[in-house]
Amino acid sequence: MTGAPQPGHDDDGTVPLGSCCRAEAVLGTVGVVNRLVSDAETIAANRRWWDADAEDYLAAHGEDLGSADFLWCPEGLRESDAGLLGELAGRAVLEVGCGSAPCARWLAVQGARAVGLDLSAGMLRHAVHAARDTGISVPLVQADATRLPFAEGSFDLACSAFGAVPFVADSAAVMREVARVLRPDGRWVFAVTHPLRWIFPDDPGEAGLTVVQSYFDRAPYVEVDRLGNPTYVEHHRTLGDRVREIVAAGLVLEDLVEPRWPAALHREWGQWSPLRGALFPGTAIFCCRRR
Ligand SMILES: C[S@@+](CC[C@H](N)C(=O)[O-])C[C@H]1O[C@@H](n2cnc3c(N)ncnc32)[C@H](O)[C@@H]1O
Repeated sequence: MTGAPQPGHDDDGTVPLGSCCRAEAVLGTVGVVNRLVSDAETIAANRRWWDADAEDYLAAHGEDLGSADFLWCPEGLRESDAGLLGELAGRAVLEVGCGSAPCARWLAVQGARAVGLDLSAGMLRHAVHAARDTGISVPLVQADATRLPFAEGSFDLACSAFGAVPFVADSAAVMREVARVLRPDGRWVFAVTHPLRWIFPDDPGEAGLTVVQSYFDRAPYVEVDRLGNPTYVEHHRTLGDRVREIVAAGLVLEDLVEPRWPAALHREWGQWSPLRGALFPGTAIFCCRRR
């Protein structure tokens, strides 16, 4: 689904998808193209994608994510062990791209005043059901991370576990918006696919060990329907790009965590696997603070 497309393409430059999941069938996805897409196109495509994929995403990963748990990444790092956000009790915390909001519910259990924000009504519907099932309720907001509907200085902390940042064309805008809604000295910690993964096919096996595209190629990964309309978009930034966007937003980068794949972890999660995890990082967690 994400990362470098496989070789071989149609006359119009579309690379046919090897296999088809339910969301791709629903959205009429036929292949992958290499072209620029606007912010608006990206947001519209990804809102439809996450609405269509919510059910299957949670069927595949819901058990690992837990109902009120803060898992940072497929490597299994949890906030309960990592403590990247610091003191939580009484803090106002924004989770950006919360999905079904297990992290926000965990934060609430720790005594934080957590708010979950996501673009997709389909994902947020699962958050509503989970709140009912667990009895842990957090305010949920449907919005785009590049336009946060909150006043300046509203939050002590902001966090994101693979939510929104890789799925927007203008991730610099997400950095600026988070900096705006954080109070001075507030922390912003976000996890994304490690930029190094961009150069490999999205394959957890041997095929995922061979470089097929340039790390410096910022053209997004774009799946399209028969008419060429984007149905899923993911945007690549190099490590340097991410640092520059963070600094330009008035944030200080305090740490970059690259979780190791634990020897005892045998599961695969999409393109993440023990095979690849033993050789190179799959996740980058940026720990920032507002000046
Ligand atoms: C991989 S999921 C991660 C969600 C959650 N952390 C989890 O593990 O379930 C990515 C989430 O980002 C959300 N998202 C994508 N683009 C977004 C945007 N522009 N603004 C806010 N959320 C967005 C999607 O709707 C989806 O719920």
